This record gives sequence, structure tokens and C-alpha cells, in this order.
Amino acid sequence: MASSTALISDTEAWKDLKGHVEDIKKTHLRDLMTDANRCQSMMMEFDGLLLDYSRQRATVETVDKLLNLAKAAQLTEKISRMFNGEHINSTENRSVLHVALRAPKDAVIKADGKNVVPEVWNVLDKIKEFSEKIRSGSWVGTTGKPLKDVIAIGIGGSFLGPLFVHTALQTDPEALESAKGRQLRFLANIDPVDVARNINGLNPETTLVVVVSKTFTTAETMLNARTLREWITAALGASAVAKHMVAVSTNLALVEKFGIDPNNAFAFWDWVGGRYSVCSAVGVLPLSLQYGFSVVEKFLKGASSIDQHFQSTPIEKNIPVLLGLLSVWNVSFLGYPARAILPYSQALEKFAPHIQQVSMESNGKGVSIDGLPLPFETGEIDFGEPGTNGQHSFYQLIHQGRVIPCDFIGIVKSQQPVYLKGEVVSNHDELMSNFFAQPDALAYGKTPEQLQKENVSENLIPHKTFSGNRPSLSLLLPELTAYNVGQLLAIYEHRVAVQGFVWGINSFDQWGVELGKVLATHVRKQLHSSRTQGTTLEGFNYSTTTLLKRYLETSSEPQM
Ligand code: F6P
Repeated sequence: MASSTALISDTEAWKDLKGHVEDIKKTHLRDLMTDANRCQSMMMEFDGLLLDYSRQRATVETVDKLLNLAKAAQLTEKISRMFNGEHINSTENRSVLHVALRAPKDAVIKADGKNVVPEVWNVLDKIKEFSEKIRSGSWVGTTGKPLKDVIAIGIGGSFLGPLFVHTALQTDPEALESAKGRQLRFLANIDPVDVARNINGLNPETTLVVVVSKTFTTAETMLNARTLREWITAALGASAVAKHMVAVSTNLALVEKFGIDPNNAFAFWDWVGGRYSVCSAVGVLPLSLQYGFSVVEKFLKGASSIDQHFQSTPIEKNIPVLLGLLSVWNVSFLGYPARAILPYSQALEKFAPHIQQVSMESNGKGVSIDGLPLPFETGEIDFGEPGTNGQHSFYQLIHQGRVIPCDFIGIVKSQQPVYLKGEVVSNHDELMSNFFAQPDALAYGKTPEQLQKENVSENLIPHKTFSGNRPSLSLLLPELTAYNVGQLLAIYEHRVAVQGFVWGINSFDQWGVELGKVLATHVRKQLHSSRTQGTTLEGFNYSTTTLLKRYLETSSEPQM
């Protein structure tokens, strides 16, 4: 077993897997897929979901060795420590308890000795009451009109998760019905173009602005909040802030300082990481305003179902654990640096951008949790697009260029089925034909012999050959309701945690985002003094000085 200060790469289990890579290199998925027993052992079902990882470059022996690695990494213990509220985010001295955000009312989850579930439900009940007031029109704007449009301001974790869920629910029949006549928009980028896009066509009289920021100090969010405060007060007067602006934050003192009534603030806690906060008021408030609390509650229940599975299922049958271990196998042993997230669902178009933050901000680290430099890479480069769009974009590279493990996510029942009389299949069947075909195309490829049999001309054979042996996994969801969206979210959140637990890193801090913020502060000060006092540029290297000079000399920013 690895002691807490040892690197996982020093364990026998890691070395055993390193050696095993040679065995796997001798295999081809074309052959591995003929073993029905192997394939059957690589199917996992839970709560309506079906995971098939038989197209991973792994044998039953590989999975056993990965489970041994999990034991060497004390994975089960680490999962328990997370659920028990221990300060596993040691560099910030915090618990990691996003699971408490979706726990049933009667659950007991403690942080620092105190059950946090009642506090969570206090906020959820407050959101329920507030969102019902807004939706029913009993809370109106300063001119007496109902607030039918919402702009949620926030960035990173205070944006990507809520946007993903909103996009996923937009076409769900139940959610669609309950959102009638309402709009939800997200203002994230400090680019003023994003402000223009967000306010385009909206009337301050009927708009509610929700400022979402864990810290309430994020430069982009705060400037965007001041910009929309100006938009509201210019039209409706200073007192309109009380009716038209609310906040979600852990920093209620700064919310009040900003001018938002603390009664109109929705709290969360420092044991919720930004990128893990979509189940807190960060996501629940804007989504409840748009869809009603009862729809959002189903989303929380879906996530909670996976939490319980993750917490209590033995590792060999535990979906997030298996997914996490396979990712470690692909990254650290097979050497594949990237992963493609390919939902065959337009409603999941914002899933990959959300998982990019969850995964890359969590696991892109260079040292172990104890500060030791890592002799191996962690994290993977996540990207993705819905199928079939991606097929007509970057799949060429995945089929014949670099090997990129793929996650195929399919939905059995479409949110919006269409069948045209006379067509061979329904539109959703057409979509899903691709979902089922692509993993085999990657796994099996096409040999020169097959091409010769098809009388392909000799000069084209190398171009039309597919090496195959390209790993993927398939996750099939019964439908895409709020509940299933919650399940999907929690599976990926926990998978990322599993990877971090095995690599022995802290997946819950993000020091890597700080340096750029500090340097931007220097630039901001310089821009101010150059524009207001004509100060010459100082303290920048040749490159930045040249670029800044060009920017200042040729830009036409409004006068200060
Ligand atoms: O810059 C990264 C980050 O700190 C993320 O981790 C976080 O989700 C985002 O900024 C927004 O932070 P906040 O919610 O405090 O505004």
C-alpha cells in the first residue's frame, strides 16, 4: 500500500501495469471484441444507465490490475474521506462536499462536525419560494411588470455547469412546458460583446439579474455586474437594484457591499468547489427561475442516485470508479493525452465545455498532494462536440490520425422525436445509427485486404486503410430528463475525482489559474495610467511592450 507521501508510480501495482502494457500492445480490438465473455464482463448497468467499455484497449486482466492500483492508491478510503467531510482539499484546508448539495433532506453529511444537509435545504427552500414568486408574478419589477427574463452573470464554475444543464433541459418536454414565456441567458465573458448580446432585445423593466460568484471578487464577473447594474439603474433609477438584482455567493459581506440586499442573496459554502457548484444555488437558482424548482429537484435526485452508487458500490461494479481507472490507464500507461466527449444529442452540446473545466482544472497538476513533483503526466486534454456534427469536423483525425479515446454518449428516447412518412428510419434512429457505428469503425478499422476484395485501386489502398484498435466507451441513457442530466453530471464529477485520487494529486484546488490574473492586474494599472496620464510603458518585456504600444496607439476606447 502507498503511504500518503509515496508516489503511486512507486507501487508494485503501478509497475505491474507498466509491464502489462507490452501484453496489450500485442492485442487488437478486432480480436478482443470476439470474446463475448470479456465483453459481457465489461458492461455495467445502474439505474437505467448502461456502460459498455468493451472497446477499451483492456483485457479482464487489465481491469484486475487497475483494481489493484485502486487498492494501492487507497481509493475506497479516499472516497469515504470525501463523503465524511474530511479536509481532503488540503492546500485550501477544505472539505469537498458537493455531494451534500443533492443529498435527501434526512441525510446526515458533516463538515467540521456539523451536519450541513439542513443548511443546504434551507437555501433550496428559499430558492423554491423565491423562484415561485418570480414565476407567478407575485414579485414584480419596479414598474410593476413581471420579471420574465433572467441574465445570470458568472464565469467558470459559476457559468459552465448551469449553461450545460440549461441547454440540456431546453428541449425536454416537461422543462420546455414550464419555461414557456421565459428566457434565461448567461453573461460570462468580460468582452463587452457578451454584454451586448445578453441585453439585446431585453427590457430592464422585465429582467432579473443574478450575479453568481463564489468569491464575489472575480474581475470579469464584478465588472459585468457593475455594467448591468448601470443598465438597470440608468433605465429605472438606483432603487431598482433591490427588485432587479439578486446574488449567489459564499461571500455575503461583499454581496451587501455591492448593493444587493442580503435577503436577496443565496448562500453556498467553501466546501463546494466552483466547478462542482452547479447543484448549489449557482445552478439551482437560475434553473429554477427558468424551469421551476420541481424540475430542478429531479436533476438533484439524479445526481444523488449516482452519489449513492459511488459511495457504496464495490469498486469492480462502480461506474465512476471504472471510468476513472480506465482514464488513468489511457493517460498514464497507454500514453494517450486527450479524450473526446461525443454526446449523440444536441441537447448535450455544452457538456464537453463543462467537463473541460471539471476535468482539466481539477487534474491538470504537476505535483502530488504532498507537493512532490510527479514523474508522470496527470489530467487529459478534453474536447468534444455533439455527434453527428463532430463526424464532419475532427473525426478524420480520430479515425486515421492520432489515437484519442472517445466517450460516446447516446440517448434511447429522443426529447423531440420526429418521423417523416416514407423515410427508412426516424430522425433519432438516424442519429443513433451513427452512435452505434462509430465505435466499431474505430475499433475494427479496415484492412488493405478488405479493400483489395472491394477492388479499390492500389494507389488508394493506403489512404483508405483504417488501422483500427482505437479505444472508446459507450454510455447509453434511457432518456434525457432532468434526472438523467443529474446522473450524467455526477458520473463525470466522480470519475475526475477517482483519477485524482489514484494519481495522488489534489483535484480540488486550482492554483494554476492565479498567475495570469496577477499579471493582468499589472496590465490593467498600466492601461489606466497610460490612458489618463499618458504614462510610458514600464516593466514589460520587449514583446508585450510592442503589443501594448500598438494597442494604445491604435485603439479607440471610450474616453475615461
Ligand atoms: O479562475 C478560475 C476560477 O477560480 C474557477 O475555479 C471558478 O469557477 C471561477 O474562477 C469563478 O469564480 P467565482 O465563482 O468566485 O467568481
